[in-house]
Amino acid sequence: MELLNAMQQRHSVRAYRDIPIPEEVICRLKQEIERIEKESGLQIALCTNEPEAFSGALAHYGRFRNCKNYLAIAAEDGKEETVGWYGEELVLLAQSMGLNSCWVALTFRKGKVPFTPAPGKKLAIVISLGYGQTQGVPHKSKPIEKLCRWEEPIPDWFRKGMEAALLAPTAINQQRFFFTQKGRRVSAKELTGPCSKMDLGIVKYHFALGAGQENFDWE
Ligand SMILES: Cc1cc2nc3c(=O)[nH]c(=O)nc-3n(C[C@H](O)[C@H](O)[C@H](O)COP(=O)(O)O)c2cc1C
Repeated sequence: MELLNAMQQRHSVRAYRDIPIPEEVICRLKQEIERIEKESGLQIALCTNEPEAFSGALAHYGRFRNCKNYLAIAAEDGKEETVGWYGEELVLLAQSMGLNSCWVALTFRKGKVPFTPAPGKKLAIVISLGYGQTQGVPHKSKPIEKLCRWEEPIPDWFRKGMEAALLAPTAINQQRFFFTQKGRRVSAKELTGPCSKMDLGIVKYHFALGAGQENFDWE
């Protein structure tokens, strides 16, 4: 329930207030990071009070202001969907604890992130975190019928899953994905576009939360 609310409330926030993240919130995030690292094989760092990655022209171009806290996620090539799935789990946990966020593939200084990926892995994404100057605004969405196909009558769980998928962040809000429902089976595919494999993991995580994993099986 908390995560469903977090999905509704989450919007990208790029300008932050000068408030440090409290120790108990950091602890909770670190606990979850530890679990996710074991489960997924991803390497995740929570960088706090580190202003360098979001300083300079690139961050300015991306409209980032005063961002000093972020997650850095490293993975092997081919694990983009996994990065999306678990990154969004952390984003929604952060949102449920009052933290705003933004996924960032490009508009930060990679060389300034104090994090060395393990052999075979590379930095896949960072996610800014902090208390926003605003809560952000809902993104425009494509209509549901452009993003999926279903068997009539549309199952309630599929509609709820797609409503959740429509709320998911995607790179440049491209929504390059397509879901198909047949009975209990759901297939989700990415279409061509920048970061669309990572987007797919994010969108599938939203879908599963909205639909209820007990109601369907991934194809
Ligand atoms: C994989 C991914 C990469 C992104 N990269 C950037 C980026 O480099 N710079 C930026 O300002 N926003 C970036 N975004 C944020 C998107 O622009 C934003 O999620 C999208 O416009 C939808 O808006 P919302 O997050 O408010 O729902 C990225 C989002 C995703 C999912």
